[in-house]
Amino acid sequence: MAEVFPVMGLSAAIEQRRAARSFSGEPIPADTLAEIFRLGLRSPSGFNLQPWRLIVVRDAEKKATLQGCAFDQRQVGEAPVTLICCGDRRVAGSDYIESVIQLGTDLGAINDAYADYIRSAVPSTLENMPSFGSLEVWTNRHTMLAVAHLMIVAKSFGIDSCPMEGFSTDKVKEAFNIPDEVDVCCLLPMGYAKDPLKEFGGRFGTEKVCFSDSYGEPFQS
Ligand SMILES: Cc1cc2nc3c(=O)[nH]c(=O)nc-3n(C[C@H](O)[C@H](O)[C@H](O)COP(=O)(O)O)c2cc1C
Repeated sequence: MAEVFPVMGLSAAIEQRRAARSFSGEPIPADTLAEIFRLGLRSPSGFNLQPWRLIVVRDAEKKATLQGCAFDQRQVGEAPVTLICCGDRRVAGSDYIESVIQLGTDLGAINDAYADYIRSAVPSTLENMPSFGSLEVWTNRHTMLAVAHLMIVAKSFGIDSCPMEGFSTDKVKEAFNIPDEVDVCCLLPMGYAKDPLKEFGGRFGTEKVCFSDSYGEPFQS
């Protein structure tokens, strides 16, 4: 694979990333897509469980099917690549936990004591769910964080995207053979934006969304 380099820095990628509603058919170079995945999937996860799973849809017929599952939103079919971003709830299985342990052990990041801790803590955390009400919330939490990474990394390589919740989960699951224990968290068309983007809708300032020490207490920077 040839080395690929970002075309803009982090601040510019964050400021220039916009939800693209239309794409040119220009393909994403394979090296660029591989680098977007490599960097985007450095996203963090609880116990490093990495429950995200991505179906990379490039086939024109498959994209048309997916567009049909997404209220016919055209960006799904126009984009050269549309990801079906899923979260797999089956991470408490011992084989899966051992694969996470192996990954970290090979890199010298996990010793025997920590491996034992993971073996007991993962199943109990996912059973007791102290900070989430359902495993679906858990898979969405992690997968959407990875999606955020992917979008910013993609933009830094000049690739636009559009996070999407406008789709029928049942239809997507059926059309793409997605198992029951896997949640569809969002769609992410990716490519080169075509039409002028919508005007930037703005973001609330810290006075509205940040609090000081207790919910509702005004925040001053
Ligand atoms: C979880 C999520 C779901 C979204 N679903 C859709 C969608 O189905 N269709 C769409 O056109 N845009 C969708 N958007 C894009 C938002 O409308 C867009 O991000 C928002 O208006 C802010 O615009 P900006 O991203 O260009 O700054 C979604 C965004 C998020 C984060």
